[in-house]
Amino acid sequence: MSINQNIKPITTKVNEKGNLEIGGCDLIELADKYSTPLYVLDEATLRGIAREYKKAFSRLETVNMMFASKALMTSAVAKILSDEGFGFDVVSGGEIYTVKNAGVDMKKTTFNGNNKTPDELNMALELNVGRVSVDNFLELALLNEIAKSKNVVQKILLRITPGIECHTHEYIQTGHLDSKFGFDLTQLDEAIELILDEYKNLELMGLHAHIGSQIFETQVYYDEIGVILKEIKRIKDKFNIELKEINAGGGLGVTYTDEDCPPSVETIANVIIDSIEKHCSEYNLEKPVLYIEPGRSIVATAGVSLYTVGSSKQVPNGRKYIAVDGGMADNPRPSMYGAKYYAQIANKKDENEMKKVTVAGRFCESGDILIKDIELNNPQEGDILCVYNTGAYGYSMSSNYNCVLKPAMVLVNSAQSDIIIKRQTFEQLIQNDVIPDRI
Ligand code: LLP
Repeated sequence: MSINQNIKPITTKVNEKGNLEIGGCDLIELADKYSTPLYVLDEATLRGIAREYKKAFSRLETVNMMFASKALMTSAVAKILSDEGFGFDVVSGGEIYTVKNAGVDMKKTTFNGNNKTPDELNMALELNVGRVSVDNFLELALLNEIAKSKNVVQKILLRITPGIECHTHEYIQTGHLDSKFGFDLTQLDEAIELILDEYKNLELMGLHAHIGSQIFETQVYYDEIGVILKEIKRIKDKFNIELKEINAGGGLGVTYTDEDCPPSVETIANVIIDSIEKHCSEYNLEKPVLYIEPGRSIVATAGVSLYTVGSSKQVPNGRKYIAVDGGMADNPRPSMYGAKYYAQIANKKDENEMKKVTVAGRFCESGDILIKDIELNNPQEGDILCVYNTGAYGYSMSSNYNCVLKPAMVLVNSAQSDIIIKRQTFEQLIQNDVIPDRI
């Protein structure tokens, strides 16, 4: 079984006190020491999945793993994954700044995005990002100008929309034709002509696609690689250049609840590699350098969120709500996408009184429900709730809604816990507020 097929971090167990433990740390002690809400990240799970990816793709001589920073970007995560041999997909000045600050080799970064600003492109070239995945005609012209002004030749990929639909939430599908991302295949030749004839400060290395996120199917990856290689063959025939790099994006799913059944990392790797081999031989192409950009599947399972249970409400003849001290600001996924999560009470091994409840957040809107209808062990005020699989797109999409402070994050390993994101303070909350003199 691969780590993305687990709901819980691989070190999760119940200790002799009857409490849940992750990374050798008692979750109740963590909640006491650091207070809640608290993000907990298990280093063994994180390094474990990184190694699964490396092993699964090792059959291919040339593969570059790029972690999709958008899933969870903190300096410590960047340091760990860079130690594990990963590069980084970055999509903003902020992500570039963070990975640079963490000491990442900037040659191992790819700058993605559908509307990179001139300032961000400038910064990317200044800091020597390895590849820019160019998304549209405006960006091609802009990037060439900037590269020219710096007297450099920037290596680029072209992001394409491969026309593949995968069955995931509509908001996180990206490879279908009616998408804001990338060049439509019918626009590709014009982009290549411009690069070859006019944009002398750009060097085209290959093609990039990303078909969606939280994907459970394998055929879509096989087809995606097929479309990319078919284009490379067409480009070779028409322009007499053989592009040497392909970037297949990210998207592998994880197991939020036992309704989810994503393929293993190994299965996905084999599908991608088989498709490369089959299509390269069919089109008589050299095997390209492969880039992949997993985000969610690298960090989701390693992360859990701890909350303290507070008030509760029994609706007469209806649901029982229990409220926790966090919610849609630290994990917007349930309210945004209807995402489902699994959770357990961290401090109750002995009781066995499962009760069906709905876990509500503390934020001022009815839609702030973290988990609808879950069986929990007799949840009471003061209990610690552990919500699993919150490592991806939780902290990275968190907000200060209702002026609630962002939680801290701790990294756990071998019974040690270290803060990797400090809890926000009220001073920090208003540090950018300005009251103009005239009011
Ligand atoms: N590469 C590109 C170009 C992407 O746009 C993305 C995700 C990835 C890689 C990484 O995909 P992953 O392996 O994480 O599925 N906020 C949403 C997910 C949005 C994904 C956007 N792009 C969520 O919480 O479900």
